[in-house]
Amino acid sequence: MSTPVSAEQQAREQDLVERVLRSFDATADPRLKQVMQALTRHLHAFLREVRLTEAEWETGIGFLTDAGHVTNERRQEFILLSDVLGASMQTIAMNNEAHGDATEATVFGPFFVEGSPRIESGGDIAGGAAGEPCWVEGTVTDTDGNPVPDARIEVWEADDDGFYDVQYDDDRTAARAHLLSGPDGGYAFWAITPTPYPIPHDGPVGRMLAATGRSPMRASHLHFMVTAPGRRTLVTHIFVEGDELLDRDSVFGVKDSLVKSFERQPAGAPTPGGREIDGPWSRVRFDIVLAPA
Ligand SMILES: [Fe+2]
Repeated sequence: MSTPVSAEQQAREQDLVERVLRSFDATADPRLKQVMQALTRHLHAFLREVRLTEAEWETGIGFLTDAGHVTNERRQEFILLSDVLGASMQTIAMNNEAHGDATEATVFGPFFVEGSPRIESGGDIAGGAAGEPCWVEGTVTDTDGNPVPDARIEVWEADDDGFYDVQYDDDRTAARAHLLSGPDGGYAFWAITPTPYPIPHDGPVGRMLAATGRSPMRASHLHFMVTAPGRRTLVTHIFVEGDELLDRDSVFGVKDSLVKSFERQPAGAPTPGGREIDGPWSRVRFDIVLAPA
């Protein structure tokens, strides 16, 4: 495609790479030195492979600048960028090695918020969020099958319109909460049946997806973060079996083991705890297995 690069030109380019690499030689922290030198090698290899033009360099700088400008306490464009490039999933895969039948991890995403409300077992995380009710139940155990009581289970999800509470301008808290597993490791709560939603695509990441013919849609999911002393923190989602977006999730987050059967219940079907529901609802079971820390 591009003009062959002369030996003299290649030597000049390589000389620059070597000089940048050497500039990190005196880094006191060996890990930082390794990371910066590898970054230098890969960054220059990328620049040289695509023969980046100066105009493209400016576009790239503009893209990152826009990502910074759109990022604030409620919007994290850099996590989104990492997500759509698969960098988040790759990092998660490397840092959550398979351990027995421990539940697999997936992307954290940009919508977790500290300080969610506490609910009791059987409570409702919806907090007024629109959506079809969904009963979620399961257990938290270790990889030997022992119950893990008092595990902190954080859950969060988008509403039926595809938005997380933090995407609204009114400071609402909805469709997010935390609860603790019981003495037998059991847990249960009401949520809303997950529906597909687009990642925020009105910013630079959205423009990149549009320019490359990619969809911003995420497969329907419910987020979990489960923490317990002595256990590896689990950040994951469950996905809805049968969702047509499972094989083209925009952030590459789907794993087969996390696809669960959400069983539709007709209007009038008896509900756990006797909750009165006008229309249909759904129920799902998710047994969580935590790896050792
Ligand atoms: Fe999400």
